Amino acid sequence: MTEMLIVIGLAVVLIVLPGCQGKSSKEDNGTQNDNSSEKATLKRSDDKDDSSTESASPEEQLETVSFYDDGKKDRYAAYWKDNPNESAEEVVSYVNTDADEPLPDDPEEISMPTTVLTIANKRHALPADYEPKDMVRVPQPCSESDFSCYLGDQFIQEVAYQPLNDWTDAVEAELGHTLKTIAAYRSYSYQQSVFDYALTSMSEEEARKVIAMPGLSEHQLGLAVDVTVDDVRYDQLESISDYKVLLEIAAQYGFILRYPADKTAITGYDHESWHFRYVGEEAAQTIYQNNWTLEEYVGRGNRS
Ligand code: DAL
Ligand code: ZN
Repeated sequence: MTEMLIVIGLAVVLIVLPGCQGKSSKEDNGTQNDNSSEKATLKRSDDKDDSSTESASPEEQLETVSFYDDGKKDRYAAYWKDNPNESAEEVVSYVNTDADEPLPDDPEEISMPTTVLTIANKRHALPADYEPKDMVRVPQPCSESDFSCYLGDQFIQEVAYQPLNDWTDAVEAELGHTLKTIAAYRSYSYQQSVFDYALTSMSEEEARKVIAMPGLSEHQLGLAVDVTVDDVRYDQLESISDYKVLLEIAAQYGFILRYPADKTAITGYDHESWHFRYVGEEAAQTIYQNNWTLEEYVGRGNRS
């Protein structure tokens, strides 16, 4: 069971829900296109920084990391003890995301105003009445024939409109795919409905891995989009032959894959191959090239 299956199920069952007009019909995988990108130039780097720090003590190595926070020094030491193969920089970055600590019962409220780097996750909550000020309709929404399409107006923050439009154009030009938005902004109350509906078919523990609790979803920020291409089901997007190039192009236009498979400990959610987040070009390219999450990028001291 995944996020959009829940959304579409909710849409079918709760047709009187305000703003809830999702419908689904098509379930075929559609065509795939294996054109390779000629313009995509970003490259990932998994290289570790192995500059010589052998003579320095662990504490000294940690303190030389530019985004070191003295208030977390005991946690850095504890995490490094459990993960001795990581570099000092990786240790500081990880602990700065707070992923070494249990999830809070009462997430910290996000300070206003929000930015393109604002983190809404299981540790940082949006107020129930938060709604982005400048929202516009997405450039290329899905339609009734697309599996799990949200058929109401789909909004995103205006700052993400042109980048989403440009990403869509680039995917068409470079890969020959039609990129469509399946879902975008979700209000606090709609997110509550989605979560409640999930509970009709799974335990709360399972639901929390695939659906954000109200206030904790970046769909409420208006900076997240669930996308697919052509006639491919959104939850099979990863199966297209040029999916990796799609990610590379996304980064060029400021979008990141928000919930990678190998980062669930940090993001708190299962892998979602269709969920992208606008963070701006510079951040997206850095995050993509280094295989980081938004939490790790911000944990390295980056702020907008
Ligand atoms: N599926 C993502 C985590 C959300 O509900 O926002
Ligand atoms: Zn999503």
